[in-house]
Amino acid sequence: MRTFGNGRAALVADAITAEKLGWGPRRRSRPEPEILLRPRDGDPRCEPWMAPDWHDPSKGLESVRRKSRRRHWSYLPNAPGVLRYLEKLAEPPGNGKGWCVAVAGLGRVGGVAATALATTPSRASGIRELLISDVDAANQERWLLELGSIATWRGEDVLPRVVPTTLSQGFDRCDVFLFAASDSVPPVGTRGDVRGVQFGPNRTILRALLDQARAATYTGLFLIVSDPVERLAQAAFHDSNQDASGAFTGDGLAPERIAGLGLGVMWGRALACARREGWDQTVARFGGLYGPHGAEVVAFDDIRKPDTARSDSLSAAAREGNLRIRDLGHLPYVGPGVSSVGLTLPPLLAGKEVLASVLIDGIYFGAPARLDWGMYPTARPMAPKVWKTLLDLHGRLQAQACALDLIWHRG
Ligand SMILES: NC(=O)c1ccc[n+]([C@@H]2O[C@H](COP(=O)([O-])OP(=O)(O)OC[C@H]3O[C@@H](n4cnc5c(N)ncnc54)[C@H](O)[C@@H]3O)[C@@H](O)[C@H]2O)c1
Repeated sequence: MRTFGNGRAALVADAITAEKLGWGPRRRSRPEPEILLRPRDGDPRCEPWMAPDWHDPSKGLESVRRKSRRRHWSYLPNAPGVLRYLEKLAEPPGNGKGWCVAVAGLGRVGGVAATALATTPSRASGIRELLISDVDAANQERWLLELGSIATWRGEDVLPRVVPTTLSQGFDRCDVFLFAASDSVPPVGTRGDVRGVQFGPNRTILRALLDQARAATYTGLFLIVSDPVERLAQAAFHDSNQDASGAFTGDGLAPERIAGLGLGVMWGRALACARREGWDQTVARFGGLYGPHGAEVVAFDDIRKPDTARSDSLSAAAREGNLRIRDLGHLPYVGPGVSSVGLTLPPLLAGKEVLASVLIDGIYFGAPARLDWGMYPTARPMAPKVWKTLLDLHGRLQAQACALDLIWHRG
């Protein structure tokens, strides 16, 4: 078996990609590589470019219910951008000093998210530095002062260092980029889809950031918090990987390094309903939540043996929780900032399972997921009824993404 590369990762039996990378045959004096990658056939327009052994991208949505039988990491040699990511993967892991996280957009949600992260000791979150930025300079300064005055009396715990940054500089330094900016959130009293209407304006903001990411040859994680979460995640992948004629280039952000963070608060709302009804022990242990941060999200009280009435109540609570707060005359942002980001990012960075929207068969779909280089869905056994619901939902969301021209046509 010929292996190439002398870093942490090495390629198996792919002399062509190794040559493009300038990786020679692995020297005998080197220890065994931590990660051995084999080339895989696949479509870089709808699959992760690199995947660990426990995730098989060719299985599509099946990967939410069945574990991979692959025994090695895989990559798509036909995605030009994969070279940059292979180089990154082969570097020694971190400097042991923790993650640098950039938060772009310090509004209600971004501000609360930054507060939650700034108050979590670095020891617990793994985050050493928080870079904050907002297009409104006064607002950025205000948050620098607010977050800078968070401290404990002679505490032993070190909190993340909060540093102001410009959007372009952020990409040069951060490992994780959180997109929480918004052009305008529909005010209280607005009827209809308050998330979907933000797509056009927020995509415009996002595009400018994707240009900055490209200029910095950014290879970190790109996490979307703004609405509509999954569509913006899809747009981040799509817009960073197409040329002026609309053709796929495959030299932008890798799809597995993009994810949406919006299901945390949906799960919080479903669990609050379960607590009111006295079902919370079962739901917390066996329940599930899938789909978008939006009106089509589906919750189950027990994914092995779902009770229809209970699951419907949980789904309704997850879907309508934002409207209940809006009906009281306020915009929801504390639950979102804390649950979707503050309580999700630290376990995510630690490689634990969280709820996130990750690329599954061409679209970003919310599911239990885990970071292992990129973000991938984790599998769990589920009742046929749950599987059927997910299959239908995934199909509908795929059709919607197609109608919005967010998917490259195959073939
Ligand atoms: N993921 C979730 O769980 C969740 C839940 C609720 C709301 N949201 C969404 O989060 C987004 C933010 O909501 P909000 O209530 O904080 O909005 P907000 O209006 O309070 O804040 C938006 C912030 O973005 C900043 N901004 C605008 N353009 C920018 C740019 N180009 N670069 C950097 N910053 C820029 C604004 O100055 C403002 O501070 C919305 O899309 C909202 O719908 C997400």
